[in-house]
Amino acid sequence: MANQFDVTIIGTGPGGYVCAIRAAQLGLKVAVVEKRATHGGACLNVGCIPSKALLHASELYAGSKHSFARMGIRAETSIDFPRMMGFKQEAIDGNTKGVDFLLKKNKVTVFRGTGKIAGPGTVTVGNDTIETKNIVIATGSDAAKLKGIEMDEKQIVSSTGALMLEKVPASMAVIGAGVIGLELGSVYARLGAKVTVIEYLDRILPGMDLDAARNFQRILQKQGFAFRLSSKVTGAVKAKDKVTLAVEPAAGGAPEQIEAEVALVAVGRTPYTEGLGLDAAGVKLDNRGRVEVDDRFQTSVPGIHAIGDVIRGPMLAHKAEDEGIALAEILAGQAGHVNYGVIPGVVYTNPEVAAVGKTEEELKAEGADYKAGKFLFLANGRAKANQTTDGFVKVLADARTDRVLGVHIVGPMAGELIHEAAVLMEFGGSAEDLARTCHAHPTLSEAVKEAAMAVAGRAIHS
Ligand code: NAI
Repeated sequence: MANQFDVTIIGTGPGGYVCAIRAAQLGLKVAVVEKRATHGGACLNVGCIPSKALLHASELYAGSKHSFARMGIRAETSIDFPRMMGFKQEAIDGNTKGVDFLLKKNKVTVFRGTGKIAGPGTVTVGNDTIETKNIVIATGSDAAKLKGIEMDEKQIVSSTGALMLEKVPASMAVIGAGVIGLELGSVYARLGAKVTVIEYLDRILPGMDLDAARNFQRILQKQGFAFRLSSKVTGAVKAKDKVTLAVEPAAGGAPEQIEAEVALVAVGRTPYTEGLGLDAAGVKLDNRGRVEVDDRFQTSVPGIHAIGDVIRGPMLAHKAEDEGIALAEILAGQAGHVNYGVIPGVVYTNPEVAAVGKTEEELKAEGADYKAGKFLFLANGRAKANQTTDGFVKVLADARTDRVLGVHIVGPMAGELIHEAAVLMEFGGSAEDLARTCHAHPTLSEAVKEAAMAVAGRAIHS
């Protein structure tokens, strides 16, 4: 019986392919099913990876326009957009080929096509039938749609279309001030587009620490972003070269019109469960369309599991990866586990925004007794040398035990700096542990140490 496996994983995004590799490492016979031509899911093909390539290229270009002269570098730079898109494609190809290699190396069998669950223990892919002890749903998510607005991926785009534009638009209206809107808005703002962000709430980056979000909004405004907060988009009309959005105050009132060459809809993502046959298999969804799972990732049907964007929790590639590893270990009889209290979140803009653990708002809502230590990059030697002094580090610690409960960073390399906080929190460390750990000088990381020192009111440089 050729098509018999211990585990069959539907979807080879970061959750699925990592689960497959870990399961194979543990001696299980593994199959994956993927309908895209390449592995890696939305993240590698139309998300994290291509957006980071464009963020990197556009940041260097913006640097050449705004920072080079100040540093004594004379350079004439201009944009070859098709070539920049080629650079982005190389990033995708390099990463997806890497996943191909890893799956082969780990002897994972790949089925190409749309996987359908025929019942516990059976998955069909076209004419193939796979018999399998366990099924893992790792089908990810898709861009959420906005009622009354049809995305043509040319003039009105989702993140997928925004990564494939043919030219830099003169103006871009971004609907939603979440991670996608601010990252892709940053790409096009740096390349010269006039970017207006329309957000339903009275703040940007919902879920992030409010203090950090407000600081970051001011920085983006200095970079030329325009924000229309507490506003909702209720319709869009397309003409040959422009899109006209109808925008109303969130609380109700007279609509106004905002015109842009391209509109980006970035109002969240929805779990992707289409065509899986979940209904017939008896797999339950929750009221937000997510596959319901228990703390061992089992769905309402024994033998059928789910991980990543398709279940509860933040829609983040690294959360999906960790769930993939934990589930593979559980299926191999080990004690796989994910610590949901310590999952970093990063916005890859310039400066970056990064967070781990609780926000001040969450601590206040819980009635927690906490202390905050804050340190501005303005007082950090390395940031001063580089003239990248926007932003701060904030450490939140339990007032009684000093245990670190959350760390929030707006600033240069925040997405890298956050991980010393994550490691500390994983070990249940205190602000004093962080403050007494020697940090090399001059580094941006010293700002993290100083913020930890500030928890006890003893920062040196502020
Ligand atoms: P999001 O949920 O982060 O933000 C969507 C925003 O749109 C919210 O602020 C919401 O209030 C607003 N909104 C909703 N309806 C609206 C309307 N009608 N008019 C105006 N504003 C409206 O979603 P986003 O940015 O689309 O990202 C989707 C998912 O992908 C998120 O879970 C995010 O964490 C993840 N992601 C993570 C990245 C990272 O880790 N760097 C990068 C990109 C995406």
